[in-house]
Amino acid sequence: MRMRNRIVSSFAGYASLALAGALLVSAPAALAAEPVALDITDATGVKLSGDPERGAVVFKQCAACHSLKQGENKVGPSLFGVIGRKAGTVEGFNYSKVNKESGIDWTEQVMFEYLEKPAKTMPGTKMAFAGLKKPEDRTAVIAYIQQNGGAAQ
Ligand code: HEC
Repeated sequence: MRMRNRIVSSFAGYASLALAGALLVSAPAALAAEPVALDITDATGVKLSGDPERGAVVFKQCAACHSLKQGENKVGPSLFGVIGRKAGTVEGFNYSKVNKESGIDWTEQVMFEYLEKPAKTMPGTKMAFAGLKKPEDRTAVIAYIQQNGGAAQ
């Protein structure tokens, strides 16, 4: 990667950084191709699981703004230990009022619903991300997050 990409704050710059980051962290998940059981129930009462390999690819979109490393805030807060965490509690991150005061706990179920269309679930959030329409993309990315630091306490 050329140095220029590191400083250009264009979408292309973010995208190539995200790509490089996701390729680096996706190696362990790629070895474990087994579906990951999730604590998510769909509308028909079926328990869902997610494909972490697919999730590694989906997470490239998140990685433009989020790291799974502890304490590493980017445009968005670090997602280390996010599963089960109370919303708006990463130290040093300047949240919007709606996120901070939402009273949400980021269970896998809540994340599954939120990620479909964040601006609809949490009007006024400063997370500028359209969302993941496909349920399989949401379960995949949650499985990936769970396996790569998101479930750490
Ligand atoms: C364009 C940047 C951007 C992208 C892309 C993005 N986010 Fe975010 N995200 C943010 C910002 C900014 C916040 C803080 C929102 C607020 O304060 O209102 C946030 C907040 C969150 C939170 C709440 C964290 C907390 O501590 O309360 C979760 C969970 C989350 N994002 C998950 C994701 C996932 C998973 C993806 C990919 C599918 C993603 N985000 C994509 C910018 C982004």
